[in-house]
Amino acid sequence: MKQLSSFARVSLGVFPTPIHRLNRISEELKADIWIKRDDLTGLGLGGNKTRKLDFLLADAKNQGCTTVFTTGGAQSNHAMLTAAACRKLGLTPILLLKKRGVTENVGNRYLESLMGVEVRLIDTDDYADIYREMDEMGRARGEKYYKIPCGGSNALGSLGYVDCAREIAAQDGGFHHIVVAEGSGGTMAGLALGAKLFLPHARAHGMMVDTDPFDEITPRLMREAAALLDAQVEITPDDYALMDMCGPGYAIPSKEGNEAVRLMAEREGIFLDPVYTGKAFAGLIRLCREGTFAKDDRILFVHTGGAGGLFAVR
Ligand SMILES: Cc1ncc(COP(=O)(O)O)c(C=O)c1O
Repeated sequence: MKQLSSFARVSLGVFPTPIHRLNRISEELKADIWIKRDDLTGLGLGGNKTRKLDFLLADAKNQGCTTVFTTGGAQSNHAMLTAAACRKLGLTPILLLKKRGVTENVGNRYLESLMGVEVRLIDTDDYADIYREMDEMGRARGEKYYKIPCGGSNALGSLGYVDCAREIAAQDGGFHHIVVAEGSGGTMAGLALGAKLFLPHARAHGMMVDTDPFDEITPRLMREAAALLDAQVEITPDDYALMDMCGPGYAIPSKEGNEAVRLMAEREGIFLDPVYTGKAFAGLIRLCREGTFAKDDRILFVHTGGAGGLFAVR
């Protein structure tokens, strides 16, 4: 198997991110709950995309690209963080965002305006339209350009979370469960593959906050990332657990998610967001209440950021 360190990176963040116990929430839920602070990755307002962009933007630079396109919903954390990373590296970011959800100049849109980033809102439900538009714009600009898919969720981006699992194993290898939000799939796929490689006692749980077919996306991305690493592993459904936490719809806050946001704020002084991490933590709470975890299990919640979204709720 190839070493993760053999892949080019651009060092965007501050790692390792801390792991600490959530004492008051553990007491309340009668479980041993810890948190990995990937909301503190050190770029923009933090968040999971920093790890993926370390690999993706190194690839862009190695290919000699100077313009970087990406996409997502109007309040995409991924798009905002891609823009921040490009600003740090001196690349030109262009964001083509779906004209859906909160499009006003609040939350991540406001942060993009602070960075002076070119944003186009595209009135479509289909990412294929957006990728086509990127090619048209890229060709018209006449510069070499790089296209990052929605969420940075391809095999190369997923390596960021294989590396996160390696980092967790080096900090504390004793976790039995790792719980994370799943929006486009790369974070969960990377963690699940990384757990298989570096944390053999841990099971990864993807809390689905969108309605895409993650039972197909997760193992596919795991296999593609394993192939990049030349890792000889067989991916089976035992390697990951998925749970539907979408509620009323993607980016529409759920009652359970909002309660989780409030619980984390009130008990631990940590802010989750209503679109991803709140719903994911609500899934962890539900698993505790359903008695899924054994008495001595140690559970790690990976806080993937999303602070910008807290300021863009209707
Ligand atoms: C804050 C936050 N958490 C979790 C996720 C989910 O990660 P992924 O898209 O890799 O599934 C996202 C994705 O956009 C996000 O912005």
